Amino acid sequence: MSRINNILTAWLAQGRWLLGHNHPDVLQSIQNVITSGLPLHTLDLTTPLKDQFSESLLSLLPGQGKEYCLQFTGPSGADAVEAALKLAKKVTGRSGVISFSGGYHGMTHGALAVTGNLSPKEAVNGMMPEVQFMPYPHLYRCPLGLGGEAGVKALTYYFENLINDVESGVRKPAAVILEAVQGEGGVNPAPVEWLQRIRKVTQEHGILLILDEVQAGFARTGKFFAFEHAGIEPDIIVMSKAVGGGLPLAVLGIKKQFDAWSPGHHTGTFRGNQMLAMANVNRSGHSESPDRAEHRR
Ligand SMILES: Cc1ncc(COP(=O)(O)O)c(C=O)c1O
Repeated sequence: MSRINNILTAWLAQGRWLLGHNHPDVLQSIQNVITSGLPLHTLDLTTPLKDQFSESLLSLLPGQGKEYCLQFTGPSGADAVEAALKLAKKVTGRSGVISFSGGYHGMTHGALAVTGNLSPKEAVNGMMPEVQFMPYPHLYRCPLGLGGEAGVKALTYYFENLINDVESGVRKPAAVILEAVQGEGGVNPAPVEWLQRIRKVTQEHGILLILDEVQAGFARTGKFFAFEHAGIEPDIIVMSKAVGGGLPLAVLGIKKQFDAWSPGHHTGTFRGNQMLAMANVNRSGHSESPDRAEHRR
């Protein structure tokens, strides 16, 4: 990648460009769709292009996606986060959500409520209720003042204890939402053992684990998804930014057993974008993975 390409990718893209600035494969697949005569939007109607894309995307999910299905939400990461939160509440019949300091999940009402940054929250009264923040591990700026492995161990214990302690004051939540590598929170990777423990505890308690891969996903960390470093399988995977090759697109990967949606319960006008016929982009982005993934470390 040229220097100017690097600068453009870092400055303008905000993690949207899987293959860099104006990659010829991306431009070509957009042109193919525009000149094909196909409708640019088909909402929920399947098309060969969407089938191709869905198959390709599913094959990148854990276990080659055999246990997952996809949901095309509205085109922003925040809308996909909203859908994930709503679905977790619907599946579990519970209402609480645990999120982490430093997490960023978007600017819509629920997504902002589970975001750490206080500044955009200042102007809003009545955030989504029952959001419990917990400290996210940080090797150097440990929220417990311990640092290193001791800090990670203590935070792991703290999380587990909060869920198990009948006197914690925090009702069992519907979901835990987190980024395996926090983006806006300072490019902060979660320790593998912490992630694994969170997966184990949430599984034991029937709490849905939502991994927000909007920024860290798509080969930005040396694996296709950042959570893969811990070898865990989330219940819901939130994807946006790079999944659309630079165009607005957001998708949830949902473990099939948790696909409790009824028709029309999370709709939106701009789903089903045919230009996501970035099938080609997706494939070219992955066919050479893990090399490409390694290249982006
Ligand atoms: C991890 C993460 N989740 C969600 C979002 C929200 O995505 P959008 O800005 O498309 O709503 C972002 C945006 O930067 C993000 O980094």
